[in-house]
Amino acid sequence: MSSFLQDYLGWGEQVRRAVESPLERVTRAKEVKGLAVVGMGGSGIVGDVVRSLAANYAGLSYPVEVVKDTHLPQWVGEGWVVLAVSYSGNTVETLAAVEEAIGRGAFVAGVSSGGALKEVLSSKGLPWAGVEGGHAPRSALPSLTIASLKLLQAIGVGVGGDLSRVPSLLRRAEEVMEIADRVLATVSKGVPAFIATSRWSGLAIRAKNEFNENGKTLAAAMIAPEWGHNDVVGFEGSEFPAIFFKEPGNPVSEAVEAVLKQFSKKHLIIELRRAETQEEYVAEFISISQAVGIASVRYGQGRRVDPRETASINLYKKVLKEVINR
Ligand code: F6R
Repeated sequence: MSSFLQDYLGWGEQVRRAVESPLERVTRAKEVKGLAVVGMGGSGIVGDVVRSLAANYAGLSYPVEVVKDTHLPQWVGEGWVVLAVSYSGNTVETLAAVEEAIGRGAFVAGVSSGGALKEVLSSKGLPWAGVEGGHAPRSALPSLTIASLKLLQAIGVGVGGDLSRVPSLLRRAEEVMEIADRVLATVSKGVPAFIATSRWSGLAIRAKNEFNENGKTLAAAMIAPEWGHNDVVGFEGSEFPAIFFKEPGNPVSEAVEAVLKQFSKKHLIIELRRAETQEEYVAEFISISQAVGIASVRYGQGRRVDPRETASINLYKKVLKEVINR
């Protein structure tokens, strides 16, 4: 079995290590007028998780922005907390946004396995949390998510709930493998479309990204209810496989399911667990991401590509760095 697949199979342990790993002493933000979570790709997905927790559970009284860009919205400045997440710590867009945030007087903190992000924040005495090395950013999702939420809580942003409960809330390994098998069987041909309701939008984005990177294929992420007003028509008479992450108790889910049953020739409905608390949401997000990650690695292996290598991302990063530093 490939070591990359092993990396995904070891997520249960990775979650435990992340929950237990202590934070260095962290200063609290004096005020929080808003939170921006900055990061790209496998690191940036943490922003989607944080935003959903904040929008649906955490009871914060301020806005949360997800920034996947070199610059911040104009309204992010003094009084805002900016959390930068970059597994390598060297992603150009993330570092540019961090410089901008520091320049605007925001309270900046970061999560990485090292790199320039650690250096910049440490040199300024700003909070930083380390995550374990040796993974690809995308296979470090448990570490990045849990370290980010722990760091936010320590700074004074009350999001993430009781993270010590996450290990015991994860799905059993057999359930994860069974979902992975079903996903793999569904995406065997065509461009896979991953559909989720807004609360779980990060899952659709994550699944798309996993099939892009591990499977070396185009894939789509679609978010309902907006899906029901445009994307849906694309399924009429098409053979694109659809995978729907079904949120229990949301009427939108019933409507999506009904339409898929009538109009999509190949679809899979994955029933999500009801997440009443933030830690339940985090655990379910990690479990389903693990299943999709395993399916995407096996999909890539089936196509005889190297799931881990991402040559085009490397070239993109190299050129962007050269142009920005010119
Ligand atoms: C995922 C992956 C990319 C990176 C992205 C940003 O495994 O390789 O999506 O996450 O290029 O890099 P980092 O995460 O190092 O900031």
